[in-house]
Amino acid sequence: MTRDGQGLELGSADATAVEALDFLCEEWLGFGKRFAQFMEAAEREERCALVPVMAANLVLSMNSAEGRALGQRYLARARTMEKDASPREQAWIAATEAWIAGDTDKSLEIHEKMVAEWPRDMLAGKLGQLHAFNRGDAKALLRIGERLLEANRENHYAWGMCAFGLEECNRLDEAEQHARQAITMERRDPWAHHAVAHCLEQRGALVEGVAFLESMSDTWEDCNSFMYTHNWWHLALFLIDLDRTDEALELFDKRVWGVSKEFSEDQINAISLLARLELHGVDVGARWADVASYLTGRLHEHFVPFLDLQYLYALARAGEQSAVTEMLASLEDRAESAKPFEREAWADGTVPAAHGLAAHAKGDHAESARLLGQAMPHLQTIGGSAAQRSLFGAFHLDALVRAGWNDAALKILQANERERPTVPATKRALADLYAKLGRTEQAMEAAHQAEQLARQYRTTKGAAA
Ligand SMILES: [Fe+2]
Repeated sequence: MTRDGQGLELGSADATAVEALDFLCEEWLGFGKRFAQFMEAAEREERCALVPVMAANLVLSMNSAEGRALGQRYLARARTMEKDASPREQAWIAATEAWIAGDTDKSLEIHEKMVAEWPRDMLAGKLGQLHAFNRGDAKALLRIGERLLEANRENHYAWGMCAFGLEECNRLDEAEQHARQAITMERRDPWAHHAVAHCLEQRGALVEGVAFLESMSDTWEDCNSFMYTHNWWHLALFLIDLDRTDEALELFDKRVWGVSKEFSEDQINAISLLARLELHGVDVGARWADVASYLTGRLHEHFVPFLDLQYLYALARAGEQSAVTEMLASLEDRAESAKPFEREAWADGTVPAAHGLAAHAKGDHAESARLLGQAMPHLQTIGGSAAQRSLFGAFHLDALVRAGWNDAALKILQANERERPTVPATKRALADLYAKLGRTEQAMEAAHQAEQLARQYRTTKGAAA
């Protein structure tokens, strides 16, 4: 019996296979981009089933039709080596098979069991967290992170992975402590930077968010396109909330869009950033057309609802009306054929939200407000992080305001203000709404606070420069 670098047993593996698996583990957890090296090893491997299984997981995580086809091919190769596979490798094969079949509830269940039985298997935890993330299951995200950390306290990646689970469960203080512990152990841990960014974003610590991410950004050059564009995306979100939208748009052009335009994760970072800039009143010019040109092959994919909604909105904003109509029909079919575990996500969340986003893009705000309002209680199940999903809440609020549904808009704005009292745009929107409702004193007070905050941020920026 051979063992890998984490002390995990492999049924049949030579030194080359062990080296390839250890390399992949480090590269995946560190969000590196040298995956081609591993894929070459996977092509050559003939004995160790886990090598092609990991190749399958890697391509499946690309969220593309080609990735799925390739994943099937790698899994079939792994099957030919299965007779010598250890129980852990067999669990990996079963989880991968379930993923390809669309039974991601089963994949998640298997990964949770793997983490319980072999908690040194960091990649079993990483993929388990990915499945949990794609279903918006924050508790599972945390359970996996805690189990990993218990068994790998010397491993900074385990601290960062647990931090993200804590953050998504809204345990911000613990999350930030865990993420900062990871960074103390190893400064080059982009996932830990990311967890800190989420904590600061949730708290509305905008100036600190910019300073923190800028101070870590020199370490992202070797990151894969997802992590690179996503951490810059987080920085852009802070800038938007600080009213520094010119800089956010510049980040779109220089960092967020253009690294790997074919990749789903790059695409949604770009879409979400353009949408947020527009909601903030920024003219983004012709940028939608370029993004949308990479999406027309995705109308019928339906890997993760959260991705689909963003593709659809970009197509709508680019004026690709026939693609939007086709995708809406396809999403309805997807919801009809949803398995019980995913019905809420597709039927109750995604379909009304998709129609609501299409209505918003057309300027039909009353219809958008109605449909997005219907989808909102189910939105956690569509996947993504709280910060990513907040985009849909922002659309809902915008539609309510534009449709003149003032009472509903006011409730949301007041809740936003309580949660993040540091955002001038929220205070300005509140001031406008109070004025519309004839509440002059409150309107003046909110406008005054907005101006004070905005001035404070301009001064901070001046001081930093
Ligand atoms: Fe994030």
